[in-house]
Amino acid sequence: MYSLFFNLVLRRLPAEMVHHVAFWFLRAAMGFPFVGWCVKRLLEPSDPVLRVHALGLDFPSPIGLAAGFDKNALSPAALAGLGFGFIEVGTLTGQPQPGNPQPRLFRLSADRALINRMGFNNDGAQAAAARLATRGVGVVGGNIGKTKVVAEDDAISDYVISATALAPVVDYMVVNVSSPNTPGLRNLQAVEKLSPLLQAVRKALDAASPTRRVPLLVKIAPDLSDADVDAVADMSLELGLDGIIATNTTISREGLQTPPEQVAAMGAGGLSGAPVKNKAIEVLRRLKARTQDKMVLVAAGGIETADDVYERIKAGATLVQIYTGFIYHGPLLPYRLNRGLAQRLRAQRGQS
Ligand SMILES: Cc1cc2nc3c(=O)[nH]c(=O)nc-3n(C[C@H](O)[C@H](O)[C@H](O)COP(=O)(O)O)c2cc1C
Repeated sequence: MYSLFFNLVLRRLPAEMVHHVAFWFLRAAMGFPFVGWCVKRLLEPSDPVLRVHALGLDFPSPIGLAAGFDKNALSPAALAGLGFGFIEVGTLTGQPQPGNPQPRLFRLSADRALINRMGFNNDGAQAAAARLATRGVGVVGGNIGKTKVVAEDDAISDYVISATALAPVVDYMVVNVSSPNTPGLRNLQAVEKLSPLLQAVRKALDAASPTRRVPLLVKIAPDLSDADVDAVADMSLELGLDGIIATNTTISREGLQTPPEQVAAMGAGGLSGAPVKNKAIEVLRRLKARTQDKMVLVAAGGIETADDVYERIKAGATLVQIYTGFIYHGPLLPYRLNRGLAQRLRAQRGQS
């Protein structure tokens, strides 16, 4: 039914507008106590086989919502009610900023993909932290990036502002150095820049949350060379980082079904969804080989089915995240993935 609605209605409307209206509608609906209670009862993961203990946290399911959907931490609870095991808010920056001019989000329906150049439009880390102070239960991660007007050389202090504001109100923190839409951001993936950045953020987290250690992860691009992936893995182990998220969107436009002239007309941005899948798995496997069991790996990129989730878990992921699949397959996707994953995990463990 969602596919029909998507093809007949949603696909014809501007993608960013649909996002705002759909998210508003979800928040409004979940705001009615009886509706919220019913939806949660029906969709929230309750099967014990799905539970994961990682990063010192208890996840009701390993399937989470990736950063970028709830950039401003407007309602992680409403999204968790659909069945996500955790929600990552952000990317948040040290200063509020409008992001790039619209249009900046495009659908490639033939590829079940999106191109976005949102450019970290967000209210700033402080505003999000104030919202999260009253967020209630459920696992919520905070994803932080660099404010556009801040020079690359001053990036550390900008990340530190966000880390300090968010540390008391998030369960884990992600340093995002892999979005293609902030000039210079991906240069921070080079270990000589990444290492001091991560050390400074670690220090800021410990200072802002002295009684509870906030786990720290880094999110990387699928476009890194093998040598760069290895270097990030080695450095993460050396710094005692808690995890790596693989991957963000790609700048590649290879292997698309959408006509090249249409793709070109969409312009610059990060490509997400089904076309990122193979590259994201490759990076995950490489990280697993390099880090063994010493680090939590979070898989993202082109996950759409329970088989996709199971494949990432077998390839070494402890947790997975979804974004584009949620747009194409609709609000019942987390419920269906949880059910399908539970079946596969039971079969693997020889249970009925
Ligand atoms: C519209 C859009 C906005 C995004 N914004 C962010 C963001 O702010 N920060 C971030 O780390 N990743 C962001 N992402 C990347 C996703 O979190 C995810 O890593 C990527 O899309 C791959 O997963 P997917 O194929 O399931 O979408 C965004 C993705 C999309 C499609």
